[in-house]
Amino acid sequence: MRDLSVRYNGELALQSVDLDVRENKIAALIGPSGCGKTSFLMALNRLSSMIRGCTVQGQVRFGETEISAATPTGWLRRQVGMVFQRPNPFPVSIERNLHLPLREHGCPRRELKLRSEELLKRVGLWEEVSGRLGEPAQSLSGGQQQRLCLARALALNPRVLLMDEPCSALDPISTAHIEELIDSLRSHVTIIIVTHNLAQARRLADDVAVFWNCGCCGCLIESGPASEVFESPQHPDTASYLRGIIG
Ligand SMILES: Nc1ncnc2c1ncn2[C@@H]1O[C@H](COP(=O)(O)OP(=O)(O)OP(=O)(O)O)[C@@H](O)[C@H]1O
Ligand SMILES: [Mg+2]
Repeated sequence: MRDLSVRYNGELALQSVDLDVRENKIAALIGPSGCGKTSFLMALNRLSSMIRGCTVQGQVRFGETEISAATPTGWLRRQVGMVFQRPNPFPVSIERNLHLPLREHGCPRRELKLRSEELLKRVGLWEEVSGRLGEPAQSLSGGQQQRLCLARALALNPRVLLMDEPCSALDPISTAHIEELIDSLRSHVTIIIVTHNLAQARRLADDVAVFWNCGCCGCLIESGPASEVFESPQHPDTASYLRGIIG
């Protein structure tokens, strides 16, 4: 990302972010509420274009591809999946939540069951749900729903996964499940995860980017390998934030 800015109704929400995200690594975005982390994620897969009054300026390059208004969103969202803070399974059965994206992206009908089973195993849900695949996804617990959403995102075999506080609505055991999963995706998928949980960022992240409220709007104040940002932060606000003094 180069010089990436996000505005809502003309008002700057995030100013001029330059950030490189390494392929097949886990990058954690941290920082206080309202500093533009979600706005940043939404700009990456152009979900921001669906928000009335939201405009994005600057460059997002993904591999060799420059993301712009002309980029086909179907292609982009297949490459760049997203998991949100609140689990949002489709209001259909557990298995249909996986069949729909698999079908949409060309999986032959006869392979749907097998591919769904593989995905459910990958997110550690198979044993819990194999006997109730036809039941509504909403009948699952919050943690199970979030794992299903992750399976749904993985169904498209994305190269990048954006995760916006994926564990903040979950209990510690479900959180541990999701963290294990994220860890298992390391070196296969590029992950950008927003988290307010600094311990989680320490456990998971290869790289860290610190967003901050810089007067009028959000900005990026520091980024680098997790060990460097956590052990020897360069920016005084990062140091205070990590020590729990501000933010
Ligand atoms: N749809 C919107 N319309 C107008 N302003 C918005 C909209 N979405 C976000 N904003 C504003 O943009 C700024 C950044 O918000 P954003 O949600 O990106 O922050 P965040 O870092 O994700 O916060 P949090 O940690 O609380 O989730 C805030 O001032 C917010 O009020
Ligand atoms: Mg947010």
